[in-house]
Amino acid sequence: MFHAAMSDPGVMRYWATPPHPDLAMTEQWLADMIAADPLISDDFVIEYQGQPIGKMGCWRLPEFGYLLHPAFHGQGLASEALAGLVHYMRRRGLPRLRADVDPRNAASLRLLERAGFIETGRANRTWLVGGEWCDSVYLELALNPS
Ligand SMILES: CC(C)(COP(=O)(O)OP(=O)(O)OC[C@H]1O[C@@H](n2cnc3c(N)ncnc32)[C@H](O)[C@@H]1OP(=O)(O)O)[C@@H](O)C(=O)NCCC(=O)NCCS
Repeated sequence: MFHAAMSDPGVMRYWATPPHPDLAMTEQWLADMIAADPLISDDFVIEYQGQPIGKMGCWRLPEFGYLLHPAFHGQGLASEALAGLVHYMRRRGLPRLRADVDPRNAASLRLLERAGFIETGRANRTWLVGGEWCDSVYLELALNPS
């Protein structure tokens, strides 16, 4: 499932890396996620009807990322997963969640806007992915303000 999603150019259009060319790369990506130090990383597999359909969480706290297999887009499942992640991270005591989104990624921006994320800034030419410079919109959601 992960490799089907992460080798799909549509799903990976606004990801920080190009589509995975082979299964070994996805296996390494998953192994790194599982092995990451829980003090700096906290990631989840999204399941639907007992099947893994994507991932959401913080590769580097408090910055979070997410993707779903394309067969499950547009059904409110990312919104549902995000509600669960916000609840969990609030209980974990994280002060805020942050996201770095390509300004062309309408689905991702809408997901965050709907969950109450606020834009905190923008920057140009932040990521060089597959030979193409991409820009960033930064957004935050306060969880446990000090
Ligand atoms: C971003 C992503 C996880 C959203 O998943 P999803 O399950 O389709 O999202 P939801 O169904 O919960 O929809 C969230 C909102 O975005 C809107 N939306 C969904 N697809 C959209 C699109 N292509 N263009 C504009 N808005 C879109 C939905 O209508 C919904 O808004 P609404 O509640 O006002 O109707 C999914 O598109 C994805 O995996 N994209 C590829 C990976 C990616 O870009 N990750 C983010 C990197 S920052």
